[in-house]
Amino acid sequence: QLASGAVPLLRELQIFDQVDSTNARVLAGLESGIGHGQVVLAEQQTAGRGRRGRTWESPFGAGISLSIGWQFSGGVQLLEGLSLAVGVALARALAKFDVPDVRLKWPNDVWCRGRKLAGVLLELSGDLTDRCAVVVGIGLNMRLPRAAAESIGQPWIDLAEVRPGISRNSLVAAMLDELLPMLAGYPDDGFGRWRDEWLALDQFAGAQVCLQSAQQRWCGIERGVDGSGALLLDVDGTLKAFHGGEVSLRPA
Ligand code: ATP
Ligand code: BTN
Repeated sequence: QLASGAVPLLRELQIFDQVDSTNARVLAGLESGIGHGQVVLAEQQTAGRGRRGRTWESPFGAGISLSIGWQFSGGVQLLEGLSLAVGVALARALAKFDVPDVRLKWPNDVWCRGRKLAGVLLELSGDLTDRCAVVVGIGLNMRLPRAAAESIGQPWIDLAEVRPGISRNSLVAAMLDELLPMLAGYPDDGFGRWRDEWLALDQFAGAQVCLQSAQQRWCGIERGVDGSGALLLDVDGTLKAFHGGEVSLRPA
């Protein structure tokens, strides 16, 4: 049993020049039963992925592509809100380097100065009823080449613009120092312990936004998240809760 607040040691750290996707590597590790605590980093991903089949641009040296495999005892319902807690852990790590203007966009982005700095992709493995395993994938821009940036269909930013000179190794260490204790404690504490910090960083608190699903669109005023991490939207005076798997948030 580790002392409260102690950072668990990594089990296995692999660093590649090039992989298809660090998430795919860790997912394969989890499926063969060896992935708990496995950390994979890559200089370049040839098939970096975001949610719902979207692409994450991660050419050579552009930033940090990091995935962590983690097994939880307990069903997948425990993990509601986990991608938001990951966002808070990343914001804490960036604060150690005095990165200014960091905010979170529900459910899985880190923004800076109104643009996307990092994304989080959680992928699940296992039977998900009384045991589940998760890949926590994080892509963060350090110095994105313009050629890669041209194919990104939304405003983006990199640390070279806001806080140049941060060591990637130091930032990775700070990220792991925040993420590993969060993951170790998550089944006990759930999202509730992270909610206030998330709300304090909410990019769109009180703003007019729209939520888009495959079939429908709701617009209203963003009212933060509930204790499970569901987004609260005030639609014509009625508060509705939305879960991250279902919808994408956009400024109205
Ligand atoms: P959602 O709100 O549903 O998460 P999203 O547009 O942020 O929507 P994601 O799947 O989370 O979509 O992220 C992938 C998207 O991120 C891509 O479609 C692209 O617009 C953007 N993107 C890709 N690479 C980068 C990058 N290196 N930096 C910033 N943004 C990127
Ligand atoms: C998003 O904003 O949708 C999430 C992007 C997540 C990108 C990271 S980079 C490391 C890991 N490997 C992947 O293929 N995707 C995640």
